[in-house]
Amino acid sequence: MPAPREIALEVNGRRQVLHLDPSAPLLAVLRNDLALNGPKYGCGLGECGACTVLLDGRAVRSCVLPLSRTEGRRVTTLEGLGTIEAPHPVQAAFIAEQGAQCGYCLNGMIMTTVALLERNPAPSEAQIREALAHNLCRCGTHMEILAAVRRAAAERAA
Ligand code: FES
Ligand code: FES
Repeated sequence: MPAPREIALEVNGRRQVLHLDPSAPLLAVLRNDLALNGPKYGCGLGECGACTVLLDGRAVRSCVLPLSRTEGRRVTTLEGLGTIEAPHPVQAAFIAEQGAQCGYCLNGMIMTTVALLERNPAPSEAQIREALAHNLCRCGTHMEILAAVRRAAAERAA
């Protein structure tokens, strides 16, 4: 295991200076060291999307991202999007469309949607499906999730 060293990054708009194993997965650091439990542990293999966060605005899988790769960069987690009182528009769209059953996949669905709409504010149905194709939902909530993404895009354009 590599020796701990100092690594500085920005998380949800706040500078963090950590003294940790640089090979530690970002997901473990977020959950265990920074108490940010929005990103979920699903597969741990980069396959399911439950652990998705934004790295400099791009959706990445934090379970397979070593902490060292985040040095000097900007990480945004679900907690950095909105609050219960003032949800992010994508979060509000998921609530409006009831896009959840157990909710375990939702962190990944929402973070991936936020990244999608930042780079493509008016995605086609095919582009929405392609963007979310590798985010797994075990509950079969796909239709509501797709409706939520369409709503978020439409409300952004209005
Ligand atoms: S937990 Fe990271 S992709 Fe599944
Ligand atoms: S709502 Fe349960 S995994 Fe998607």
